[in-house]
Amino acid sequence: MTTRVAEQENYKECMPFARQPLKSIYIAQRMFTTLVMVLWWTIYYTVTPRKHRPRPSWSLKQIICVNFTRRIYKVTELAGVTWGTRNPEETCDNRSLKETRFEWIEPLPEEMRSGVIVDSQAECKRVGVFTWPRDAPEATSSEKHDPKASEVDLSDVEAGDVPVIGIFMHGGGYCHMSAHENAPTSKIPRRLMKDKAFTQIYAVDYRLLQHAPFPAQVQDAAAVYYHIVQQHQRQNTPSAGSSELSSDSRNTNDGNVLRKDYLTADHVPQHVKDRAENEEARGRMAQAARNMRCKIVLIGDSAGGNLVLALARWIRDEARLPLPDGLLLLSPSCDPSHAFPESPSSYVPRPHADTDYLVDTPEPRALLQRTFLGNHPLEMMHSPYVSPASQKVLRAFYGDAFAESVQDLTIARLNSVARAHLRTMESAPNTPEEGPPAGLELGRSPTSLERPIIASPRGLSLFSEFPRACVVLGDAERLEREVTKLVGAMERDGVEVKTVWVKDGAHDVLMMGWWDEDVRTKVYNDIEAWLKEV
Ligand SMILES: *[C@@H]1O[C@H](CO)[C@@H](O)[C@H](O)[C@H]1NC(C)=O
Ligand SMILES: *[C@@H]1O[C@H](CO)[C@@H](O)[C@H](O)[C@H]1NC(C)=O
Repeated sequence: MTTRVAEQENYKECMPFARQPLKSIYIAQRMFTTLVMVLWWTIYYTVTPRKHRPRPSWSLKQIICVNFTRRIYKVTELAGVTWGTRNPEETCDNRSLKETRFEWIEPLPEEMRSGVIVDSQAECKRVGVFTWPRDAPEATSSEKHDPKASEVDLSDVEAGDVPVIGIFMHGGGYCHMSAHENAPTSKIPRRLMKDKAFTQIYAVDYRLLQHAPFPAQVQDAAAVYYHIVQQHQRQNTPSAGSSELSSDSRNTNDGNVLRKDYLTADHVPQHVKDRAENEEARGRMAQAARNMRCKIVLIGDSAGGNLVLALARWIRDEARLPLPDGLLLLSPSCDPSHAFPESPSSYVPRPHADTDYLVDTPEPRALLQRTFLGNHPLEMMHSPYVSPASQKVLRAFYGDAFAESVQDLTIARLNSVARAHLRTMESAPNTPEEGPPAGLELGRSPTSLERPIIASPRGLSLFSEFPRACVVLGDAERLEREVTKLVGAMERDGVEVKTVWVKDGAHDVLMMGWWDEDVRTKVYNDIEAWLKEV
């Protein structure tokens, strides 16, 4: 394993200033000149009229924060500096924590490992989590052993007093930050807990790209999700153990469709099989969901949003665990494929270069993404697990018309007629309901072997059956276009999405130290209103 870590760290060798003493010199130089620039920006924006600011509504602090972050980001790109990280294999002493407790979660059990998680380049490991609040609530700690306690819990459920559990995946481009309470991204769970929006929030210390390549991050997220489902399942129902909801439940299912499937396996068209299989999978997930004594909401900012989407996809694709009750996506990164010249979209610059601190320098971005993929083929960049809103993926599922139409649209500016049109636009091949039966156009089917990676099982569309989502994005951020595409695709597949626009917002403002507090409070109010509906 040490060799793997070393291998993963190798990416820094391609950077011009990653070695000492150049590294220190470069960082010192960059820091110094940036501080000088801060002085300059302060003077410049104090004396010039407001209309010359990148956004007239911005305060001096906001401008400096954006310009500073953008400039300092170069040291990540050229010297491989990462911010706010910790070693994910190290135990954190509870005594050093003020708001959270640290626990190890067991690796995902063997029998649950399926689908994208099974991989030769990353192995399932135990995962550290930082959990808010510091002291575990009574009911949760006693429920496993004390039958009376679980009865009490059940009556709570009937009274509508269901605990709401958050699982937080921090942002940081898969190379910065950690789940530790002191990481800047922890502002988000801290605030949600302070506002009493959640009973508990588990912040997952998943492995960053310098520790292990994809799908290690999904393995870690899945291990925590599985653990929480186990903790909060009713113990008294026979099929409570979700791991028992194995695929042989199809034997006991006496649905006609299934029997036909067995008898005439070779003659049944694929879409009929898909539909039957899907009915069965839905039944299984619904049964598992009925056994839950809590609501689970997956939360992720930036790259953490990308991971939330991947975890939700894995849960849906494998259909062995209940789906979460909601996804809270804060400026989710959903098209990292943009960094590669192989992607058509990489030739279209991302919007809002002047008002966001994210940078678009191609080589360093591609280097980080390549490291993230490990030794997997480059094609994997276009897996819906990695780039769910890449143009290639959207095209495979919805056809050209959709992939292109969403390119420049900003949903906020659409009227209801245009939105309705988006949803009912002529179906692309292989969307489960209205599409022509798959098999007729094998070449264009997303599940065909020609495109083995861009596919969903059981004839599902890209986001069908995903839980409801709340998506927060700034109208001044570089991810605006890809997130808008994501929302469009989710809505088209029938997912209920609430979009919260941050006016003049840069990327991921909820974790920025210096952002306008009034703007943030408004966003949190909107998020919490949505959570109440979940
Ligand atoms: C921290 O405390 C929690 C309970 O409060 C406990 O489950 C956990 O094992 C402790 N972690 C460590 C590393 O001791
Ligand atoms: C701050 O950054 C923006 C975007 O790059 C730039 O246009 C602006 O000139 C910068 N401000 C100053 C005073 O350099």
